[in-house]
Amino acid sequence: MKQGECIGVFDSGYGGLTILKEIIQVLPQYDYIYLGDNARAPYGSRSFEAVYHYTGEAVRKLFEMGCRLVILACNTASAKALRTIQQVDLPLIDPHKRVLGVIRPSVEALADYSKNGHIGILATRGTVASGSYPIEIEKLFGMEKFHITQLACPMWVPLVENNELSGEGTEYFVRKYLDELFLMDPLLDTIVLACTHYPLLRPLIGQMIPGYVRIIGQGHIVADSLKDYLLRHPEMEICLSKGRNVSYYTTDKAEIFEQTGGVFMGERIKCRHVQIC
Ligand code: DGL
Repeated sequence: MKQGECIGVFDSGYGGLTILKEIIQVLPQYDYIYLGDNARAPYGSRSFEAVYHYTGEAVRKLFEMGCRLVILACNTASAKALRTIQQVDLPLIDPHKRVLGVIRPSVEALADYSKNGHIGILATRGTVASGSYPIEIEKLFGMEKFHITQLACPMWVPLVENNELSGEGTEYFVRKYLDELFLMDPLLDTIVLACTHYPLLRPLIGQMIPGYVRIIGQGHIVADSLKDYLLRHPEMEICLSKGRNVSYYTTDKAEIFEQTGGVFMGERIKCRHVQIC
């Protein structure tokens, strides 16, 4: 792979693959490096300091490996680390490099979905506690347009990380949080899967909610938003290598990543271990 010009995609573990998959579909021409910090996942219940520190290490490693642009394909990292990395760290590391998150594009897309404005945000504890979604929604649409209900689903990431996507136990925990969410707001007509791991549970979620409720996954939204970004930033686009290569790295065992990551991507993948701290 030509060095210095790839697109990096980062997540605490496998979840970001749901974003990478859709990015590759929309923008197949570029070279990508995926990095999953599986050894330290999940991030969802960790402190601001820990998530910022871990994400910073991952971003630096991706730059070192040749990325010019990094997508934090993780809501928790986007909520807790993106702003500080963009404003404080990037100018010192290299002002020509960029780091983008998944929250802003997801919020921008909201207006296309809900009819009655009642929206449920399902996310990790960290994302919910950060208030990033309500804050961004208010910034973009004001206070009146949407009625937002947030709920943390701490059991969902471990289920997905362990490839437990169906069966009695998984059904129990999927139903548990959905029941809780609809109890908080029975008028919901839209649910945002605001954690990149959750789309893997979408088939189950779809079976357990009323048919009129729309489920928003982030993959295609982030992919379209990246496409738009590259159109608006030709100075970045021109620097990106176009070899159609995808490389996978994990901070944990490569063989395990290849198995579970292959399920996420729907094809066999080759992964390498990388040390980032
Ligand atoms: N996939 C990540 C997100 O979108 C976080 C999962 C975790 O590590 O808890 O928030």
